[in-house]
Amino acid sequence: MKAYRAALLWFAPDTEGPPQACYEEDGLLVVGPNADGRQVVQAIGAYRDLVLKFPDLAVEHFPGRIIAPGFVDMHIHYPQINVIGSPADGLLPWLENYTFPEEKRFESPEYSAGAAQFFIAELLRNGVTTALTFATSHTASVNALFTEAQAQQMRLITGLCLMDRHAPADLLNQPGPGGVDATEQSLLDTEALIQRWHGVDRLGYAITPRFAPTSTDAQLRGAGAIAAHNPDVWIQSHVAENHDEIAWARALFPQSRSYLATYDDFGLLRKRAVYAHCIHFNDDDRALMRASGAAAAVSPSSNLFLGSGFFDYHGADRTGFAYGLASDVGGGTSFSPFRTMLAAYYVGRTTVTGLQTKAGLSLSPQHLWWQHTAGAAEAMGLGGVVGNLLPGCEADFVVINPAATPLLARKTAIASNLDELLFSLIVLGDDRLIEKTVISQAI
Ligand code: GUN
Ligand code: ZN
Repeated sequence: MKAYRAALLWFAPDTEGPPQACYEEDGLLVVGPNADGRQVVQAIGAYRDLVLKFPDLAVEHFPGRIIAPGFVDMHIHYPQINVIGSPADGLLPWLENYTFPEEKRFESPEYSAGAAQFFIAELLRNGVTTALTFATSHTASVNALFTEAQAQQMRLITGLCLMDRHAPADLLNQPGPGGVDATEQSLLDTEALIQRWHGVDRLGYAITPRFAPTSTDAQLRGAGAIAAHNPDVWIQSHVAENHDEIAWARALFPQSRSYLATYDDFGLLRKRAVYAHCIHFNDDDRALMRASGAAAAVSPSSNLFLGSGFFDYHGADRTGFAYGLASDVGGGTSFSPFRTMLAAYYVGRTTVTGLQTKAGLSLSPQHLWWQHTAGAAEAMGLGGVVGNLLPGCEADFVVINPAATPLLARKTAIASNLDELLFSLIVLGDDRLIEKTVISQAI
């Protein structure tokens, strides 16, 4: 058992209405092993109260610092570190000109291992302790990322990118030995990778069709069958990001009611299915998200950078489907959750203005922060496991220095309530705010 003394930020257990942040100016976070020997939160609250209950504990003190849950990134591409900041007319030319050429390099286990090490280090440097991430269509890329995440004891979910048409030949899934075709081999590889990695330490597997246009019917059907046999395995893909992409998906799968419904038709919408973007939806799509239990990975910096459009927060909340925040690096422009939360704020404002709904319907700083921690965890089926510091949660947390820059120091010093403090951090913050990232250890 060990305790940390600092200001503490966490979220109240599920509440009706908007998420409620809890803040303790002089708090104590007590961590200790659960039955499996993993460090989890044992208690959280005011220092003056908890120090009496745990009088003999070693206490590490962080004066002037804030301890908060580690951030959860619901959608990111580890093979796209080098793609950040590649301007294009839109999603499809961006994929063709920048993304596919870079992803080809992950055929090499050495290149994959180097990128995986950089990627995990960069996540942790930015305070991200849980990530659902794309790899490439090469098994080497998946093995490299799981290996590095396991070494860092990080909670990480990834999977082999399924792509058996409409991409450069050397980036498609490849045929196997003995005349096994590429589609069949990609599904065999997926099953083998699930056996090898899913549920090992803190690792999870995600069945990963890139998006409907780059998979045949047979591949999507096979992916859906694997998903049905493995209900606790995740699914990740993209949907309704860009108008050209949508037109393409509709032309390839005209029998489905909508682009989103295509995934449903192949058994790929369910709890633990996470779809990036979900921008150009109608109310039938929103109702399908809600009914299926699938979640949206809202990726605002990517959507602004690629000019894809604006996630409709109002529509999502009206329907009540699950969502949380994601960087979507390399369409997204930063690993920093602060940059993503600020981009989400801009998107929220834009949506309100665009729809001419009630003036002043802004995303609160507490709601933005929740979308990148407890809300994201809940949307992914990891509520009560990560993304919060309630007793029982795995002890993944960040130590934030609210005076990390002269301007932050000046601004946070005059914050007169929690919303003002959080908003200053969101607007002015980046990786410099994260003084330390602590990952739950197994003892
Ligand atoms: N749709 C299909 N692939 C991708 C990708 O790599 N990034 C984004 N933003 N959208 C996609
Ligand atoms: Zn993406």
